[in-house]
Amino acid sequence: MSGTANPLRQGLVEDRSPEPCTVVIFGASGDLTKRKLVPALFSLFTERLLPPSFAVVGYARKAMSDDDFRAEMHEWCKKFARHKPTDDQWARFAPCLSYQTGDYEDPEAYAGLKARLAAIDTERGISGNRIFYLSTPPATFPIAVQRLAESGLTDRRGNDKFTRVIIEKPFGTDLDSARALNAHCRSYLREDQIYRIDHYLGKETVQNLMVFRFGNALFEPLWNNRFVDHVQITGAEAIGIEGRGGYFDLAGIVRDMVQNHLFQVLCLTAMEPPVSLAGDDLRDEKVKVLKALRPIPEGRFDDFTVRGQYRAGSVAGKPVPSYQDELGVNAGSTTETFVALKLFIDNWRWAGVPFYLRSGKALPKKVTEVALVFKDTPHRLFGERSVSEPNVLAIRIQPDEGISVRFGSKVPGNTLDIHPVNMEFRYGTSFGAEPPEAYERLQLDCMLGDQALYTRADEVEASWRWISRLHHAWAQRSSGEVPRYEAGSWGPDEADLLLRRDGHVWRRP
Ligand code: BG6
Repeated sequence: MSGTANPLRQGLVEDRSPEPCTVVIFGASGDLTKRKLVPALFSLFTERLLPPSFAVVGYARKAMSDDDFRAEMHEWCKKFARHKPTDDQWARFAPCLSYQTGDYEDPEAYAGLKARLAAIDTERGISGNRIFYLSTPPATFPIAVQRLAESGLTDRRGNDKFTRVIIEKPFGTDLDSARALNAHCRSYLREDQIYRIDHYLGKETVQNLMVFRFGNALFEPLWNNRFVDHVQITGAEAIGIEGRGGYFDLAGIVRDMVQNHLFQVLCLTAMEPPVSLAGDDLRDEKVKVLKALRPIPEGRFDDFTVRGQYRAGSVAGKPVPSYQDELGVNAGSTTETFVALKLFIDNWRWAGVPFYLRSGKALPKKVTEVALVFKDTPHRLFGERSVSEPNVLAIRIQPDEGISVRFGSKVPGNTLDIHPVNMEFRYGTSFGAEPPEAYERLQLDCMLGDQALYTRADEVEASWRWISRLHHAWAQRSSGEVPRYEAGSWGPDEADLLLRRDGHVWRRP
């Protein structure tokens, strides 16, 4: 079994085959299971990346038979799997699936699950390797971890069988809760059994940030404060909150997108080269970036952060209601649906280089991008005719995955006019293949026992430390006012001002 079918997998992991195992998905009736987790497992199956003996057990409170679960998953795989199932493939995959109804608290339910897993082990020749994927509401994480351990389904001592637990986001809601959850998990599991997921790390183009930087000689020499003027990281979404008002109104965009996804992208952009791709070497470097993030100076809050909340407008011609009118949002809510931050990484490489981050819902389009904006040439040889825009290296994480370099070129003709042009690399055209889904790569890595693309306890805490200070500073401000922006715009005017004060403008990706 090998990953060589996909050239983008090469270079990051050596090709290994997972041992036979069962993946138990807690929260199996939920959206993530249907849209992402099972379709991803099915795509791995079609690419022959799963072990020969393999099972998936859906676990949730909702009563359902195995056949119902299989039929439902068939429909979702047809809709969402990267490889649509043929009848023959489905006939071979469906027997891997079973379903167990159960509560997340009741010890007896765990006894039932244990008996079921033992039976599946025998039927399918699996011999006890297990992954428990907690895709449940975060409030259930502690009890599920505890019950799994008490029922003997996870074993801290370590023997020749593995038991690993994947924990979905959000991992805590602030520094204290993240610390408490880490401590709780560690009292039942070893760190090497805990897989804290951030699906951005499973994205091909996020991993390519490392290949791009450390697998080439060309770019890294420029990747520092001698040449880079500033960095812009954008995580924009066109969608609003899509019926998730109850969750989102408590979270806000900073917890939903910045603490995890954007900070991961920031870390991979800013970190030093790790000594190897082993999980801890990579994560050590990311933690150093998070530790070097300068706290927002006391009393200078508005110089470094901008919040926003969308009001009614339209995105791509479709009307979008005001955030305040979304289902589940509290009347008079001051939760931010947009944020822009100016960050400094106080270390040798990045001293003095601002990193501007922004993320928002109901913006004009979906785009995730990292852009390095370069300093001017030391001398303007071409005077007034010199290029008016700085050189930019933009890494497009999604969609239209690729990399572009913007630089000045002579306009053809008998004058010396200079105009900015783009040099483009696009995954689609260069490789002619669609990148795998993040959840494919991440579930496969967990089967392989590779934690490099999962976050470590200290990493999660370091990122919450910075974010919790931000929330604390926001809470201290006398006015709870949040600037509004029209849905379908690029956020409040204050976000433009944040850059304009420094003589910069946001890119319009
Ligand atoms: C999730 C957030 O973690 O990431 C969502 O909860 C957000 O609000 C999503 O829409 C974005 O992920 P992606 O892969 O679509 O960029």
